[in-house]
Amino acid sequence: MIFFIKNRIIYNKHIYEKTKKLCKMKKTTCFETNAIHSQMKRSPLNEHSTPIYPTSSFLFNTAEEAQSVFADEQQTYIYSRLAHPNNDEFIEKLCLLEKAGDGIATASGMAAVFLSLAAHLRAGDHVLASRSIFGSTHLLFTQFLPRWGITHTYVDVDDKNGWKKNLLPSTKMIFTETPSNPGLDIINLEYLGQLSRENDLYFVVDNSFSTPYLQRPIDFGADLVIHSTTKFIDGQGRTIGGAIIGNKEAMEEVHMLARQTGPTLSPFNSWILSKSLETLAVRLDRHCSNAFQLAEFLEKHKEVRSVRYPLLPSHPQYELACRQMNQGGGLVSFEVNGGVDRCMKFENALQLFNITANLGDTRSCITHPSTTTHSKLTSEEKQAVNITDSLLRVSVGLEHINDLLEDMEQALVKSKK
Ligand SMILES: Cc1ncc(COP(=O)(O)O)c(C=O)c1O
Repeated sequence: MIFFIKNRIIYNKHIYEKTKKLCKMKKTTCFETNAIHSQMKRSPLNEHSTPIYPTSSFLFNTAEEAQSVFADEQQTYIYSRLAHPNNDEFIEKLCLLEKAGDGIATASGMAAVFLSLAAHLRAGDHVLASRSIFGSTHLLFTQFLPRWGITHTYVDVDDKNGWKKNLLPSTKMIFTETPSNPGLDIINLEYLGQLSRENDLYFVVDNSFSTPYLQRPIDFGADLVIHSTTKFIDGQGRTIGGAIIGNKEAMEEVHMLARQTGPTLSPFNSWILSKSLETLAVRLDRHCSNAFQLAEFLEKHKEVRSVRYPLLPSHPQYELACRQMNQGGGLVSFEVNGGVDRCMKFENALQLFNITANLGDTRSCITHPSTTTHSKLTSEEKQAVNITDSLLRVSVGLEHINDLLEDMEQALVKSKK
């Protein structure tokens, strides 16, 4: 405290200059090292771990400096809705890992989805989107964007010509999510990247299920990448958060709208998420290996009707998943024999899989999409994206795989009775 009061004159500038750029570190292309060693420059206290700056605004040393900052003659932190050192550290690190030019941290994944759409779409514009998308994103497309004169067309995952066929002169954006929630459909990013380039469209990809460790849509031409950081990036179910990262040109409008509308992430949540990125690679290695083993187990089980996991050879887009993902991710979707009653009995019989709407946690989680996350969809809409009454979505945690398989087995047996 005394330190800060004594140094008040230099504090404002000092913090900005110290935090605007990440620490200088040894140059490396290794994901894990970048995730751990990129950190905001240290304060004069020389702390080892990044501090949190829980402040809503920053001081100007003089009235003249305030005027000059507001006139864009010099840059400094002003007000935490506009920019904040903890948000900057988190986003600069995420950009480094995903090879993006710029980004923004948002208060939730849905704030990121909405901001990416609202920043680039105007009345009269049209969006081409993959049909299998998160329930709230679907509601944005069907119930809110039409209020502002923005239309969309969905393309089915198995309709190879659907994207080209449905292009309109007013099409401005391609929006996709891969793997999709909850069906784990895989969308061809290379194809859509090229189509977007040829037709001068913004290409937006929701990468929440993969994170930059498993898939980098920017390598395939995405302009903007969305994350619900609530999921694997947090990894312990502590925060709601989101991010948009992408190329500088596409991010410009996003920043302009965000400054005025304020979907800002709190410094505390940014601090947590930046720390979480340090362990993302090791966590995902375990999530993926557990999920793969669980998927193989379920595929052989006689009480299981079908299984979806991107890296199971039985997945309809298996080869595509192998091309664009490093590993298959932590989610497994499957159908049990029976309908809603059997699913509920099965969920209630599980002892290690928690019934919760979140995913990407250290703890294994299970959801029945038809009665929870996707319950607002009509029967026809559910049918179109294969959300049947028998479908369950599991987020495979970091527990020992033997315990998880044992728990699944006993619940499948118990729920049959
Ligand atoms: C693919 C996907 N995108 C976006 C979201 C929304 O994220 P949030 O809940 O952080 O707003 C979710 C949430 O489950 C999701 O699964």
